[in-house]
Amino acid sequence: MNNDFLWWRDGVIYQIYPRSFADSNGDGVGDLPGITARLDYLAELGIDAIWLSPFYPSPQADFGYDVSDYKNVDPLFGTLADFDTLVAEAHRRGIRVVVDLVLNHTSDQHPWFLESRSSRDNPKRDWYLWRQKPNNWHSIFGGRGWEWDAKTGEYYFHMFLKQQPDVNWRNPEVRREMLDVFRFWAERGVDGFRLDVFNAYFKHPDFPNNPRKPGFALRSFDRQQHIYDIDQPEMYPLLKEIRALLDAYPERYAVGETFLATPERAASYCGSDKLHAAFNFDFLFRKFSATDFAEGIRLWEAAIGENGWPNYVLSNHDQPRSATRYTKGEDDARAKVVLGLLLTLRGTPFLYYGEEIGMRDITLTRHEIQDPPGKYYWPFYKGRDGCRSPMQWDESPYAGFSTVKPWLPVHPNHLRRNVKTQRNDPGSLFHFVRTLLALRKQQPALLRGAFRFLQVADAEVLAYERVLEGERIWVYLNFSAQEKTVSLPGQARSLFSSHGEESRIFREVLNMHPYEVSIVHG
Ligand code: NOJ
Repeated sequence: MNNDFLWWRDGVIYQIYPRSFADSNGDGVGDLPGITARLDYLAELGIDAIWLSPFYPSPQADFGYDVSDYKNVDPLFGTLADFDTLVAEAHRRGIRVVVDLVLNHTSDQHPWFLESRSSRDNPKRDWYLWRQKPNNWHSIFGGRGWEWDAKTGEYYFHMFLKQQPDVNWRNPEVRREMLDVFRFWAERGVDGFRLDVFNAYFKHPDFPNNPRKPGFALRSFDRQQHIYDIDQPEMYPLLKEIRALLDAYPERYAVGETFLATPERAASYCGSDKLHAAFNFDFLFRKFSATDFAEGIRLWEAAIGENGWPNYVLSNHDQPRSATRYTKGEDDARAKVVLGLLLTLRGTPFLYYGEEIGMRDITLTRHEIQDPPGKYYWPFYKGRDGCRSPMQWDESPYAGFSTVKPWLPVHPNHLRRNVKTQRNDPGSLFHFVRTLLALRKQQPALLRGAFRFLQVADAEVLAYERVLEGERIWVYLNFSAQEKTVSLPGQARSLFSSHGEESRIFREVLNMHPYEVSIVHG
């Protein structure tokens, strides 16, 4: 591999939702030793880093996004020693480890909040957002954002569940404690951090009401313009401080979850004295259409600029999976098109566990729903459990995830759709992803090359060039169920086709199969 390889820029980051990846101790919930036991699989797949959703001590009201101790591991997931083993074993295989820091809010069972709510004159009272009178801010998970505390006669603010009180980032002690969380994990060898809703850390100090947003939306939260509860200017100096802290260690990384952000806003948080990356979730909401995806790419490239570094996400633990959104039935042809796109654009790709085998969301009955917003908004919105089902390793009753009934049902399609089956099938999505990950490593232009759209006469074919030091790679994605013929900009030879050896180039013309992904060297 090329010596210029920089893991967070050139690599592929694979998100693991620890509850659902692999259960090593037979309690129906995934855990850290389970992940360690599956690292060989991840190395075989060819990813470069794992991002672990929260595994810290937590009452699990929001499945770990309600943290009661930032510097430990919940017994449900293992111990700190298990974490150290996971990091060491990942590093031994060249896999970096990114942890999820949830610093906008704590659990209501965090000792800081227990103290803060114990009395109005407690020294930690100011560590959270207490007010005598609420304003009009709402919780995204449903209802008012202010919870009345009868004992002390004030309200506290929570942007998410009432069990997730928002901390007061303006308090210098809070700020110090939170920055120390970065150091704690960096010292343990963690390579990067995913910052949960970082752009909500600061709220306007005067708590003005948010203005109404015209139009209808299911959630009251979406009927407001969030100008006072997110994206406050104090975020920029804080990011500078976080970046300086990270830069004191070699090759550390931070990617922020930019809550409700436009591509421009996400781009504004990235840079050499800010975050390495901020998520742009545009692709999560695109239709299966070449022109629609092209628009998403165009907006993001324009916002981040050619000196900035984009990132792309098709799936995560909060939204329906890419295969659920883009495929019909069990056919993976369309999943290959969007994953082909994800893995060849300029920018860091994020894969979500099971995406490489095309896992689909599970459907749940009302009684099976676990996710709090799913319970609150049912039947209009059924929550996020669908995309969090157990990883499908094999065809056994619990898909090789566990020996007992897992915390969420296993998808019935695991009898055919699982790692074991796909490993044995050269035409599977698993092999498609694995081959593309290997191709990326052989072709630096696919990693760091500049990006430019290629004009093709057919609107259903998305085409672009990646070019680095004279090496030209052209990517063609056929978003239609029809065969297509496109002209190439010059002579080319095939590097890869989703249809195996059948990629058909005659002179400067490429004949494409339905839903073909074709990568050629110009
Ligand atoms: C964003 C996370 O991605 C989501 O899963 C979580 O519920 C909220 N932040 C609150 O932490």
